[in-house]
Amino acid sequence: MAFKICLKIGDIKGESGTAGHIGEIDVLSWNWGLTQSASAHIGTGGMANAHANNFKAIKGVKLVGACDIVRDKAADFAQRHDIPASGVFDDIEAMLNGVECDAVDSRPHPYEFYLYNDA
Ligand SMILES: NC(=O)c1ccc[n+]([C@@H]2O[C@H](COP(=O)([O-])OP(=O)(O)OC[C@H]3O[C@@H](n4cnc5c(N)ncnc54)[C@H](O)[C@@H]3O)[C@@H](O)[C@H]2O)c1
Repeated sequence: MAFKICLKIGDIKGESGTAGHIGEIDVLSWNWGLTQSASAHIGTGGMANAHANNFKAIKGVKLVGACDIVRDKAADFAQRHDIPASGVFDDIEAMLNGVECDAVDSRPHPYEFYLYNDA
């Protein structure tokens, strides 16, 4: 479907000759965008691995953090998913302060989560 878009920004003069929008700015192209370039993962059990594979399938996304109360599990997960050793944690807050990420995948069972965190 073809359509015209005109943009009016304050007093800025545009080139549009479209009736009703003379002098506005012709928009020649536009697109929607979404980026999510880095993810961190809490609870590195079975489901986290499945999710990690899905994250990795998205072009441009890299995994930067792994946190599990069982640190060895986080370390295994990190090795499997190319997360540097500096991204391995056994404390959620430390991970959130220690890595830059756009998304966090949290996989512990809510019951386990509360049990271990006194939340
Ligand atoms: N396995 C499945 O097919 C499936 C499918 C859908 C949903 N789920 C749900 O996903 C969740 C995880 O399932 P799973 O099979 O991956 O379990 P899992 O036991 O393999 O993994 C959970 C991990 O979370 C860690 N963990 C627990 N509390 C933590 C905390 N406070 N901080 C950091 N890490 C913590 C545990 O050490 C463990 O490694 C559960 O709620 C489950 O019901 C599982």
